[in-house]
Amino acid sequence: MSNYYPDEIIEEIRISNDIVDVVMEYVKLERKGKDYFGLCPFHKEKTPSFSVVPTKQIFYCFGCGRGGNVIHFIMNIENLEYIEAVKMLADRAGIQLPEGDSREEKEKAFLKREITRINTEAARFFFEALNSPRGEKAREYLRKRKIKEQTVKRFGIGYAYEAWDELYKHLLAKGFNKEHIIKSGLVIPGKKGGCYDRFRDRLIFPIFDVRGNVIAFGGRVLDSSTPKYLNSPETVLYNKGKNLYALNFAKNSGEKSLLIVEGYMDVISLHQNGIINAVASLGTAMTESQGRLLKKYAEEVIISFDSDAAGQAAAMRGLDLLNDIGCNVRVLVIPDGKDPDEYVRENGAEAFRKIINNSISLIEYKIRILKKQIDTGTPEGKIKFLNKIANVLSKIDNNVEIEVYIKKLAEEYDISPESLYSEVYRRIKPKENFRKISANQENNKDNKVKLLVENEDDKLVQDERFIIAILCTDNSVYKYVRDKITVDTFTDSENRKLARVVLERLENNKGIAPGELLNIVDKKVANDFARIINKECPCDDNKKAILGKIRSIELYKLKKRQMEILELLKQKDSLTEGDVEKLGLELKSIASLIKEKKSG
Ligand code: CTP
Ligand code: MN
Repeated sequence: MSNYYPDEIIEEIRISNDIVDVVMEYVKLERKGKDYFGLCPFHKEKTPSFSVVPTKQIFYCFGCGRGGNVIHFIMNIENLEYIEAVKMLADRAGIQLPEGDSREEKEKAFLKREITRINTEAARFFFEALNSPRGEKAREYLRKRKIKEQTVKRFGIGYAYEAWDELYKHLLAKGFNKEHIIKSGLVIPGKKGGCYDRFRDRLIFPIFDVRGNVIAFGGRVLDSSTPKYLNSPETVLYNKGKNLYALNFAKNSGEKSLLIVEGYMDVISLHQNGIINAVASLGTAMTESQGRLLKKYAEEVIISFDSDAAGQAAAMRGLDLLNDIGCNVRVLVIPDGKDPDEYVRENGAEAFRKIINNSISLIEYKIRILKKQIDTGTPEGKIKFLNKIANVLSKIDNNVEIEVYIKKLAEEYDISPESLYSEVYRRIKPKENFRKISANQENNKDNKVKLLVENEDDKLVQDERFIIAILCTDNSVYKYVRDKITVDTFTDSENRKLARVVLERLENNKGIAPGELLNIVDKKVANDFARIINKECPCDDNKKAILGKIRSIELYKLKKRQMEILELLKQKDSLTEGDVEKLGLELKSIASLIKEKKSG
């Protein structure tokens, strides 16, 4: 790992970002004893196997094997390089980084603050405009759509005047700088050096982040002209794909599920009807960041679709994405091709709650779509349909669930469940198939030997890692091993690097903690160490364990040399008599060493 920050600063950053607090910003955690558990954000699961251990400051998932310290967590979850993750955490903890680009970051932070202030001022301006005499036509429009006064206030709905640059002038008069106003996206620079307002003669919906800061705006026309909606561009504050409209309200709904709808008006209308767990994706395809947000705030996600019409492929990708990151997804299909706003307005809140309760599972939804798309009246159609069904079913990770669907479909389409079974199982568990293949290969002796050697080598690396891990979790065992190990005890290059740091620290009576050790390892090695630290350290008797591992490493090395010599001796022709004699002596001494180690 190439750190270009000094180790002490990296360590300060790590210590200043408690792993439980950081993880909780992304994952819903529950405390069990000393540790915390939640649904893993890195793989699909329905029962929690993702753990965070505050005492060791590491995370580890028993399901997918990802693990590490807080830096690796950020690398994994934000998809960042090491240095970027460190910067993000420094920022979070308010730690000044020494390098030159911290100035750039300071400027960015300043710009963010300025744009937040500009947005807040603009929201106030739009709100007042709505309630001014010139806002009457917008108020009329809201009345027509049955939006109540109280709702207008709650969502901060406003109006942008039918004028070129009133907001721009207002913001300048409030003392904001032209450059910042442009960067807020609220005004657009014109050709002659002036600026004009982005939103003109539109109903305005401020977009809030989870904390309720205004980060952007959407504006709707008051008639049927186009474009129907205009939105703020992406700014330093606003990233469409990372946000969900009304989540600031919905997250406090107290419901276990969140309902995702498409539009501003849908959310507003639902909230007005007491359905306050609704959020909107604002017409864009679901992103992974949005998925994580949802997963953090809800046990279950219900997606509503206007109808079974267009845009289904994109919607389906969104559903798969949510499912893949481990959200429990259900689908709410609104009858008669209505959107949620229209439906709730016409049928009332109770009717809407009823259709929410009747929302169907993702699998059922997919089956339903396939039924609509494919004519199963012909034999070809039926085959095509069942093949596609097999694809869908093969993705379910619960055998009971698969069985239930197979039985139901086999009956419905009058085919044998067995044939559907075999189609489904042909498509799943390539891992299991792989295991079968390698079991076959084990009949082949060469392969078997090769596999054995690889396993043994792997075990050596693991034993080495255990030694390093236990030294970090219990620094006091160092005194028992200081005469028995050096950096050269370790064969794996990554382990040597770590051993160098750990042994030097402990030799100089300076401590080292597991979380700190991980500062200098990459993501893959971190997974391994997190597992060992989580599962094996400390153990009942640290001293005995570490001495045992040292002995098995020594034994392993001796045995490996023994094998090497035996191999060499097989090719006697290429050796001199002197060589043979030397090797013979070495072999003898190895044999007695092995005996000694085994009995000692
Ligand atoms: N959208 C957009 N730009 C458009 C059209 C739509 O950004 N030109 C986004 C908006 O966030 C909108 C959402 O997609 O809320 C859903 O679009 P649509 O269903 O057309 O709008 P509604 O929210 O239903 O608005 P209304 O009921 O006022 O027609
Ligand atoms: Mn609508």
